[in-house]
Amino acid sequence: MRVLVVGSGGREHTLVWKLKQSPRVKKIYATPGNGGIALIAQTVNIKADDFEGLINFARKNHIDLTVVGPEAPLAAGIVDEFQKRRLRIFGPSKDAAELEGSKTFSKEFMRKYHIPTAPFQVFTNAMEAITFIKSAAKPIVIKADGLAAGKGVFIARTQDEAVETVDNILTHRKFGRAGEKIIVETFLEGQEVSIMAFTDGKTIRYMLPSQDHKRLGDGDTGPNTGGMGAYCPARFLDEETMAFIREHIFEPTVSGMEKEGRPYRGVLYAGLIITEAGPKVLEFNCRFGDPETQAVLPLLKSDLALILKGVADGNLNTVGEVDWNNGSAACVVMASKGYPENPEIGKRIAGLRNYSDKRCFLFHAGTRRDGKNWLTSGGRVIGVTGIDHDLPAALARAYDVIGNIKFEGMVYRRDIGHKAEMPVKTVGI
Ligand code: GLY
Repeated sequence: MRVLVVGSGGREHTLVWKLKQSPRVKKIYATPGNGGIALIAQTVNIKADDFEGLINFARKNHIDLTVVGPEAPLAAGIVDEFQKRRLRIFGPSKDAAELEGSKTFSKEFMRKYHIPTAPFQVFTNAMEAITFIKSAAKPIVIKADGLAAGKGVFIARTQDEAVETVDNILTHRKFGRAGEKIIVETFLEGQEVSIMAFTDGKTIRYMLPSQDHKRLGDGDTGPNTGGMGAYCPARFLDEETMAFIREHIFEPTVSGMEKEGRPYRGVLYAGLIITEAGPKVLEFNCRFGDPETQAVLPLLKSDLALILKGVADGNLNTVGEVDWNNGSAACVVMASKGYPENPEIGKRIAGLRNYSDKRCFLFHAGTRRDGKNWLTSGGRVIGVTGIDHDLPAALARAYDVIGNIKFEGMVYRRDIGHKAEMPVKTVGI
């Protein structure tokens, strides 16, 4: 198989790394890729939003399967464009990707199909939103409707914070068209968990649950980021809760999307919170998580290429079960000073080498080569994933390797996995 991976982050590096382990994959291209991906695949400088460029490349290079990493091209309809040209591609159609691309669609869909989620209201008018918020309990959650690169969700703890957030989104249009509507929803408490599944719209095959760390600082402090680290599996989920999640969240979502005339094919990612009253959906994403993928895929035993092809062809049921290795994986993200707002880039990175002898893997995000040197080129720079028989041992491997990597102003969390042993109590399922 000749495969094209679209994207340039740590998630895409992990996809390429895993696909390369498939005996069926003969050649991998990545567009545009990054410095780390270029070590294991051929990178080509075509941007993820240049659909014509990507289609021409796929045709000329006899690509058998295109795999799309980020949400923006999916929400913009890359899958529909490839399929019109009879090119095989992994990911949801534009209509199906609205589960992530429009939070209003997603929340109204959940309400219609009785999928557990926080109570919510949608507003387009700032005055109406503020009037509602005045009488609502705090903290309260305010979300921009459209894609906002992970920056569109706010937890307002006071009336003033809530009013400022509403004004920033609806009045000052901080997120442009992505902020034409807002969702105001009840704040929920509990442990968060990310569950991703492969689905071709009929069959669903689950990945191991993982947990992301969204805040920049230790102890879940500081601003929200794309994710500062993840571990897998999240063992605090017991089988009863997993069964509830399958039956009340994934199955009705996949069948509901079919009923809506938006059959869902690709990775369905549910960002969940396990409250005392049971699991609730915080958000759906229409793609692999980042950095969850860097912790989940290293534990995948089955052939990823075969699974992705089965999804794209609509015959995932013929692929067999998806098998996983025992043990744990932990990914710690190293970021640039100033991330997420204003990352300083262009810093020389020391200590980048192959650490697979230490059961550790470097997944590059914001790196580039400059002759013999490695330089930082983005906010999140590298994800360091350790693998071992349990989480403490996997974390020890990742942090040991981090001790060898240096760049000016580097930032990383020292407490990845700190909630792994925290018990979850559910009384409502
Ligand atoms: N790690 C969160 C996300 O991928 O959206």
